[in-house]
Amino acid sequence: MIVVTGGAGFIGSNFVLDWCAQSDEAVLNIDKLTYAGNLENLQDLQGNTKHIFVQADIANGDLMRELFNKYQPRAIINFAAESHVDRSIHGPADFIQTNIVGTFQLLEAAKSYFKSLAPGPALAFRFLHVSTDEVYGSLSKIDPAFTEKKNFEPNSPYSASKAASDHLVRAYHHTYGLPVLTTNCSNNYGPYHFPEKLIPLMIVNALAGKNLPVYGDGQQIRDWLYVKDHCSAIRCVLQKGVTGETYNVGGWNEKPNLDIVHMVCDLLNEMRPRTDGKKYQEQITFVTDRPGHDRRYAIDASKIANELGWKPSETFETGIRKTLQWYLDNQQWVANVQSGAYKDWMNKHYVGHDKAN
Ligand code: NAD
Ligand code: DAU
Repeated sequence: MIVVTGGAGFIGSNFVLDWCAQSDEAVLNIDKLTYAGNLENLQDLQGNTKHIFVQADIANGDLMRELFNKYQPRAIINFAAESHVDRSIHGPADFIQTNIVGTFQLLEAAKSYFKSLAPGPALAFRFLHVSTDEVYGSLSKIDPAFTEKKNFEPNSPYSASKAASDHLVRAYHHTYGLPVLTTNCSNNYGPYHFPEKLIPLMIVNALAGKNLPVYGDGQQIRDWLYVKDHCSAIRCVLQKGVTGETYNVGGWNEKPNLDIVHMVCDLLNEMRPRTDGKKYQEQITFVTDRPGHDRRYAIDASKIANELGWKPSETFETGIRKTLQWYLDNQQWVANVQSGAYKDWMNKHYVGHDKAN
């Protein structure tokens, strides 16, 4: 079986759903269920004995060791993190705790479990750390895209905490021989994206008739990847990646934020026109910029393409249409997130968790 941490969050839940649809191998899903963890994302797995859920903090090293010894995973994939840059600016402490201390405790538990394995399972074991392009810092318009050789220049408490975790993962390979893999991915979008991030916030606010807040001049550039493509990249790296290596993952799809907001508005004008006949663009509002706002991220994903044969399946045009359709079809999910009702999901509906823990 494999262990996934943070599997009730945006990318983790997409990964777990895809994994269970494509593989017979069981998943132990360890998630603390912070505000970003939503078991409603996993409702399709109710009654599926291949998915075991444990509510736990990755910083609880003793419990992590206990779980690894009990379930004997062949791989641990670490998605668990505090992930929102704006929150890291207002309150960095949780980011230091989970992203740095939590990753450290998880690595310690993984190391002691790895050392206990017989030679065969030890050879096959992998610790895959899911990280971000934000560790590389900000680019100017003419700089080349980030390669894996780019030095780290993190600018926000979020990216600094992720950079620290990446360094720890690297050190556990070099010092202790832990068979690690790291992926550094660009901005994801798709189903189950918490509506505090740009794309889901714009969709949800547009439909609710609220303002669409664009930070600063809206000319900051991000490289967007459909979440299912990120999940397929992680499966590919897990299967074929060389231990100790890092792999950049991206969509070859750089766009300024304002263009993204206009695309969302254009699609909504077509798919769910406003009842007053006006355009959603009328709701766009320019607001105060994010402090220390990185101007541009761009991923050079040549290494994973050339060495492992991965490339994205979706273009931005196909992926954003699927995403819009998902939000239109899942208004109850949005309502539950906004009202906080999703927090009751485990008590009301979910029976697949490991009650022993
Ligand atoms: P998310 O915030 O949606 O989900 C994070 C999940 O981790 C939640 O389910 C939360 O409950 C869980 N969690 C938080 N602290 C925990 C702890 N101490 N112990 C156990 N579980 C904990 O995040 P996401 O957008 O799905 O990102 C997942 C990972 O991918 C993160 O490591 C993030 O840095 C990385 N990443 C995200 C993006 C993106 O665009 N969203 C891009 C590249 C990399
Ligand atoms: O690059 C990968 C990173 O992408 C991940 O590591 C992070 O976990 C993920 O949250 C994301 O970080 P960003 O800061 O790029 O994402 P966010 O959706 O918060 O913002 C995207 C851009 O849109 C950014 O330039 C800020 C801007 N923005 C965001 C919000 C929420 C706005 O203009 N208005 C908004 O309301």
